[in-house]
Amino acid sequence: MPRAEDLVFPRQRERFEDRRKEGHQRKLLDEFFDHGTLLTVSRLINRGLIDSVDFPVSTGKEGGVFRASKGGEFRAVKIYRVGNTTFRRLPAHALEELRRESSVRNFGGLIYAWTRREHTILGRLHDANVRAPIPFGHLRNVLVMEFVGNADGAAPRLQDAAVDDLDALYRELVTQIGRMVRDAHLVHGDLSPYNVLWYRDQAVLIDVAQSVDWRHPAAPELLRRDITNFAKYLTRLGREVEPAEFLRAVGGDEVGPPAEVD
Ligand SMILES: Nc1ncnc2c1ncn2[C@@H]1O[C@H](COP(=O)(O)OP(=O)(O)O)[C@@H](O)[C@H]1O
Ligand SMILES: [Mg+2]
Repeated sequence: MPRAEDLVFPRQRERFEDRRKEGHQRKLLDEFFDHGTLLTVSRLINRGLIDSVDFPVSTGKEGGVFRASKGGEFRAVKIYRVGNTTFRRLPAHALEELRRESSVRNFGGLIYAWTRREHTILGRLHDANVRAPIPFGHLRNVLVMEFVGNADGAAPRLQDAAVDDLDALYRELVTQIGRMVRDAHLVHGDLSPYNVLWYRDQAVLIDVAQSVDWRHPAAPELLRRDITNFAKYLTRLGREVEPAEFLRAVGGDEVGPPAEVD
């Protein structure tokens, strides 16, 4: 059995200067890297997807995102916590879709299916030229993807980014969300300034596991909600945007179950 300390945070470990910090890291290690997750991470290392997990970028109730390294490059590792809290926030449509796709009955199985789903959707987005992290692989509850950011750290969420050209931001959102709808045939369903990173003047769409096919009965309402949120956000920043116009611009008219023909 690998020891947590040997697999994760090697860079941080060198910097353990005081006991308090060590205690905090210890807690993180125990919370995320349970026995099974540690084995999974070590398998991903053996398979050559990553060399090491370096430090946490973001941790929450449902899981965490960590920066990892591979060769001279960075990667992002998203770990879903195996527990029921991970599913509490999931919208009904997403769970229902997941149950249809997979025959899994227990929480663990559902979480693995959820991880695979995020990987698949990121692949569909990449194929459609939508700016989203490139997926590199997944195993059980762990997903390896492109790290959006550089040596200075992860790219900020739009929520925390300083964007000066709001017209350009609006056009960029229309471009990326429009490609997601028209080319990838997907509706995100949880779009907000928290799930979009701002990197090199591009909007990078993340946290995509709950996305649904554009023909899903819930798709029109989900897209309308996503777009309304973003229109409010842009308007608050000072770039007034009409939700109806925004919705049309991303292909909203084409979303929804196919019309019945008699
Ligand atoms: N590929 C990535 N590169 C850099 N940072 C990321 C990446 N994916 C996620 N993050 C960071 O981790 C946070 C949480 O990721 P997210 O996928 O939104 O998970 P959740 O909201 O379910 O915790 C994001 O807000 C972002 O700051
Ligand atoms: Mg998120």
